[in-house]
Amino acid sequence: MTVIAPVDALFQPLQLGALTLPNRVIMAPLTRARATPENVPQPVMAQYYAQRADCGLIVTEATAVDPQGMGWYRVPGIWTSEMIDGWREVTEAVHARGGRIFSQLWHMGRLVLPDYLDGEQPIGPSPIAGEGQTFAPPPPDYDGGFLPMKPYVIPREMNADDIAKVVVAYGRGAAHAREAGFDGMEIHAANGYIIDQFLQSNTNRRTDGYGGSIANRTRFLREVLQAVTAQIDADRVGIRISPTSERKGMGDENPRALAEAVAAMAQEFGVAYIHLIEPVASGFMEKPENPVVESVRKIFGGVLIQNGSFDAESADACIAGGKADAVSFGRPYIANPDLVTRMRDGLPLADANMDFAYVGEARGYVDYPAARPTVTA
Ligand SMILES: Cc1cc2nc3c(=O)[nH]c(=O)nc-3n(C[C@H](O)[C@H](O)[C@H](O)COP(=O)(O)O)c2cc1C
Repeated sequence: MTVIAPVDALFQPLQLGALTLPNRVIMAPLTRARATPENVPQPVMAQYYAQRADCGLIVTEATAVDPQGMGWYRVPGIWTSEMIDGWREVTEAVHARGGRIFSQLWHMGRLVLPDYLDGEQPIGPSPIAGEGQTFAPPPPDYDGGFLPMKPYVIPREMNADDIAKVVVAYGRGAAHAREAGFDGMEIHAANGYIIDQFLQSNTNRRTDGYGGSIANRTRFLREVLQAVTAQIDADRVGIRISPTSERKGMGDENPRALAEAVAAMAQEFGVAYIHLIEPVASGFMEKPENPVVESVRKIFGGVLIQNGSFDAESADACIAGGKADAVSFGRPYIANPDLVTRMRDGLPLADANMDFAYVGEARGYVDYPAARPTVTA
């Protein structure tokens, strides 16, 4: 009699563009704010990612392509040679453990507080502020704890020159990521950051060629894709989207049509994957009323990675049912460096201490033990 493993589909290999993944467990991008205050990746980040190298693919934390798009204390960037060198240590550590790692290229657009820009207004497609507040830089007497919060501000509407400069910054970020030894790049077009701001009708009220119709609102993404794929083959590029998320004041008049247009563009460019944040269960984001996953799957022939509140069983069912090719895990990866082993062997998952999710050093970052100690020769 054949014994069918409870989670089997999740542990089948997968061809993802140019890469062959040994399993379909993807590490979702997680901002952990362990770079230096100058946004340079530190050796502890190499240790953290290397601990998680047995997953199918690591997607790094969001990485700023330009100082104007960086609005969070101690997040990493990729615009200087020191940053490239810091990232090279990370990619080498992951590769030494047999892993694969993509850089998530990021620009926050309107969500950057002026505090990070020497008092300048941030830029965005339209002069509409994000909803809510975010972490401000540390005060002079900062003791390492939680950072003060400040509300988002109204951005300066980008002119043609601003748009061209950000597109160039993405191309430069891609060139730097390649130089740092990444296996590929994920374009962060989700979660209300600059590309999403152009995509969604709530945040894009432009009347030029970058606003209005879906073709116009996707133009900025098209230009970013052109800039990135000029630096690295499209089969090493992924796109992350969250068209049904309404966080931070996002929203679109027709998320399905928008998602379909992005899927068609991804297909046209031949990118390796679409990484869709659209939870099937409540959790980090609300469950959308009209999910777009099936529409995206019909149009896009590459790999579809689903994300949002999955566990081993629901991820396996999702893949086995043909709804996605792979599933990414975010929060479970904070406290479970050996998530692949735990899910494969049905071991319980450890709980994360969220006090150290976005602040701190090694504690709450690289000190979560594996369920089973590794035996080293
Ligand atoms: C601490 C933390 C940091 C995150 N940072 C990023 C990020 O840098 N880029 C991104 O696209 N999503 C980020 N996310 C969202 C996750 O990638 C993921 O979409 C979310 O946690 C839902 O997946 P999960 O239910 O498996 O955790 C972050 C989430 C958390 C909890």
